Amino acid sequence: MASRNPIGVFDSGYGGLTVLKEIIYKLPQYDYLYLGDNARSPYGNRSFDTVYHYTLECVQWFFQQGCSLVILACNTASAKALRTLQQNDLPKIAPNKRVLGVIRPTAEIIGNFSETQEVGILATIGTVVSESYPMEIAKFFPDLKVFQEACPMWVPLVENNEHTHHGADFFVKKNMHSIFEKGENIDVLLMACTHYPLLREKIEEYLPVGVKLVSQGEIVADSLADYLLRHPEIESLCSQKGQRSFYTTDSTADFDNHATIFFGEAVLSKHIDLETIKSGK
Ligand code: DGL
Repeated sequence: MASRNPIGVFDSGYGGLTVLKEIIYKLPQYDYLYLGDNARSPYGNRSFDTVYHYTLECVQWFFQQGCSLVILACNTASAKALRTLQQNDLPKIAPNKRVLGVIRPTAEIIGNFSETQEVGILATIGTVVSESYPMEIAKFFPDLKVFQEACPMWVPLVENNEHTHHGADFFVKKNMHSIFEKGENIDVLLMACTHYPLLREKIEEYLPVGVKLVSQGEIVADSLADYLLRHPEIESLCSQKGQRSFYTTDSTADFDNHATIFFGEAVLSKHIDLETIKSGK
């Protein structure tokens, strides 16, 4: 009988912890192995090739740890690496394992929230340039108008713990103003980056009345629960002892400090060397 192992949850850094938190809330019985590639984050401004190679290395590390299912809890990695991983790499390196992202589950549902049929997407430059959201959303809601806004300063604001301070207002106001200039009938605004839920209160200050602000964690958690129900062949390979472990490619002290903000509870991470990840050992 094949052994059961944790579900892998990957992010460029801390942000995926906001997604993991919702997944654990929905599916506490499973074991989770989290990896933040902090030594090479942020991914948001990097090229397709770079994000793809970094993500592939990390996914292979999860497979070596025995994970049969890996969630890319990072919009940028989902936008730039997932398709190639699923179509080209998995069939060769691990045909029985699965890698899922955060964009498709969101695209499947986002149109249901809108009355005006206009939605706004707030994301990193990488996610916006990839056009992944407009392309995926068009498959499920062909008549929905999608407006995108890259917010490159928002991740650094959160990472430097400035997101609740006055300095954050300048950039949040600027990007909020810009997206509603592009689509004045937007009635649903998606925070399509793992860091943005931490800016919720600031974003709400600049949110026009009647606009719904949507975060992804809950959507991804619901979609994972549904996936596990529909795929017993994968579910039966996921261990269920309610255990969580956290790895970072950078400083564990930094990770643990930030994790409290992103995850909402204390975390004791372990270090994994980038060289180990790169060499695939
Ligand atoms: N986790 C990334 C995302 O959701 C944001 C951080 C980064 O740029 O690496 O797009």
